[in-house]
Amino acid sequence: MNRMVKVNIHHQGVVRLIESAEGESLLDALRNNGFEVYSPCGGNGTCGKCNVMVKNEGLVPSCMYPLKESIDVILPDRREAKVLVEQHQHTVILPLMPGECADLSVFPHGVAVDIGTTTVVLYLVNLITGVISETRAFLNPQTRYGADVITRIQFTTTHENGLIILQKELINELNKTLSDLCQFAGITENEIIKITFAGNTTMLHLLLGVSPKSLAQAPFRAQFLEEKSFMESNSGLRAFHRQR
Ligand code: FES
Repeated sequence: MNRMVKVNIHHQGVVRLIESAEGESLLDALRNNGFEVYSPCGGNGTCGKCNVMVKNEGLVPSCMYPLKESIDVILPDRREAKVLVEQHQHTVILPLMPGECADLSVFPHGVAVDIGTTTVVLYLVNLITGVISETRAFLNPQTRYGADVITRIQFTTTHENGLIILQKELINELNKTLSDLCQFAGITENEIIKITFAGNTTMLHLLLGVSPKSLAQAPFRAQFLEEKSFMESNSGLRAFHRQR
């Protein structure tokens, strides 16, 4: 078993001690302990954005820094992500076309989700009136593992459980936002009877936990391109069980 190395993390005025296996990258050690480090190239050592201050050594790229001995690390202040949350102002109001599932709930709602590589936007739609009741957006949490689709695909191939990590990051944030939307609208998650996702091919593969590896290798084929419908899913997404 690898020797454990102590790392003192100085962040926002607090010092926290973590222990990680010798040889692990500082970036992975920080991430595994809940610290966010901006790493747009996905830890490939090419973007130079994951720098952190190591006491007595200066700035180092955390993804290229294998842990060898106890160190003190000073993390930069958290980056504030600016997320577009007012998209609904520009949304075209379409005439309502009631679907067959509208009688499954007293207050049937649907959610349309646009999974962007950077920003994820959720629209809560009242399926009786067709009105978009609320719009919420968040920074795609997968950006921590790579700013673009190629680095995220690489992450799934170079890290054990990389695919599961990226899927879970997204699902967890979706669940949180779905809860917020339900609270806002005064409905339960059971009142969300349909969720529709749109996104680029890589984002949809990651959402479903399907390996996107073939998208980055000749002949660049997707595992699926057709629309998929689920009545239930073990993906961990709440309200999925009522999806049609
Ligand atoms: S150089 Fe470390 S994440 Fe890009």
